[in-house]
Amino acid sequence: MTTQTQEQDGAGAATANESLTITDNRTGKQYEIPIEDGTIRATELRNIKVEEDDFGLMTYDPAYMATASCRSAITFIDGEKGILEYRGYPIEQLAERSSYLEVAYLLIHGELPTKDQLDEWIHQITIHTFVHENIKEFMHGFRYDAHPMGMLLASVSALSTFYPEATAIKDPDVRYIQVIRMLAKMPTLAAFSFRHNQGKPYVYPDNELSYPGNFLSMIYKMTEIRYEPDPRLEHALDVLFILHADHEQNASTSAVRSVGSTQVDPYSAVAAGVAALYGPLHGGANEAALRMLRRIESKDNIPDFIKGVKEGEERLMGFGHRVYKNYDPRAKIIKKAVEDVLEVTGTNPLLDIALELEKIALEDEYFVDRKLYPNVDFYSGLIYEALGMPMEMFPVLFAIGRTSGWIAQWLEMIDDKEQKIARPRQIYTGERGRDYVPIDRRS
Ligand code: SDX
Repeated sequence: MTTQTQEQDGAGAATANESLTITDNRTGKQYEIPIEDGTIRATELRNIKVEEDDFGLMTYDPAYMATASCRSAITFIDGEKGILEYRGYPIEQLAERSSYLEVAYLLIHGELPTKDQLDEWIHQITIHTFVHENIKEFMHGFRYDAHPMGMLLASVSALSTFYPEATAIKDPDVRYIQVIRMLAKMPTLAAFSFRHNQGKPYVYPDNELSYPGNFLSMIYKMTEIRYEPDPRLEHALDVLFILHADHEQNASTSAVRSVGSTQVDPYSAVAAGVAALYGPLHGGANEAALRMLRRIESKDNIPDFIKGVKEGEERLMGFGHRVYKNYDPRAKIIKKAVEDVLEVTGTNPLLDIALELEKIALEDEYFVDRKLYPNVDFYSGLIYEALGMPMEMFPVLFAIGRTSGWIAQWLEMIDDKEQKIARPRQIYTGERGRDYVPIDRRS
């Protein structure tokens, strides 16, 4: 007996072979479920029941290893082939020929800007780089050695209290000014967090400089009248921001989408992304990778370290990826940028350790069998260190780049008619129906 679960109106009907026929061996019933875009709708499984008043079947997919949460036109990744495209443009071409603010426009608007559009976009972002003076006072309240990522998390969230109108998420004009503010103020908040951690006075934005140049000025300016960024470092930072701009449904973007699905303001949704990115398995991996290189200290210690990894005592931070089962295309580009930056700043012995680690990992069957290749976080830490950034700033730099992706994904989710508040189900494994026991009778 086949129970049709697909709509018979034709619009949603799949062609005959684009479907699954499932036999429920508990009842002998057969179900036909349409296959759309390589997926089946999990809600179709709810029609598979034993008793009529059953909830029906669900999928069980901890960590969402095989679950598509949305339709998106922003970023395409082919993990097997090591392909990454933003709105269809290969990351290699964008890193080579575009700028971070142009890529941010592309991710958010879907098309590359005309010259006038880009000029206006840059102008709007430039004139919104300052933050309310109360934000400075708020940030001064942190301990002298507070981790800058923790400060960034709190200050991004605090922006929602300075722009209460941002809760009007259905108003495109209100959304747009928040997008501009978020892109403009993220480097300022990041730089203030750095200067706080260094015990130095905060440096205000210099609107005569480029986006990366202004960030470098807010990081490094001391007594000079105007900070002049080295154009090679300015370019290297811009490329790093491009490479970190978006990466489809990674953990932090999923956090932004999930929190944003409650119709909270975008600052609170992006703060959730900052919190997720803070973790050492995600954006914190660049900091963890450099700490790992420092701990290895010399190439002579690599064999023992690799032994520890194989015995499960260590993780090779900056290696492996949930999607890429080939070399992360961003790591290839960053590896080349490392050489360009070190020409300016002088070499770094940790690079020799990194190159030797990569060589071993690409040949050793433990890593080859598990398809563990260097990811975006393996080499980026070396550039950040060459730029004089303390390790605690590495995830903060990742967050600056990823802000454009978080915003683009949030906007796409808001306009997606299929989306509603994210609320997964569970398999309950606990006790049922227990009576309350007074405290004097508990053992
Ligand atoms: C980012 O999702 C994104 O797109 C993220 C990101 C983005 O742009 O948003 O690309 C940015 O977060 C890059 C990843 C940065 N994280 C790290 O470099 C941390 C080290 N890598 C991992 O911990 C791990 O590889 C993950 C978290 C990245 C992916 O983990 P998975 O897909 O859940 O894989 P897994 O942990 O199940 O590992 C599979 C096997 C296991 O071995 P067995 O248990 O089968 O024997 O591979 C092993 C793992 O032990 N393994 C590693 C390893 N990564 C996986 N072993 C040693 N070193 C590693 N780095």
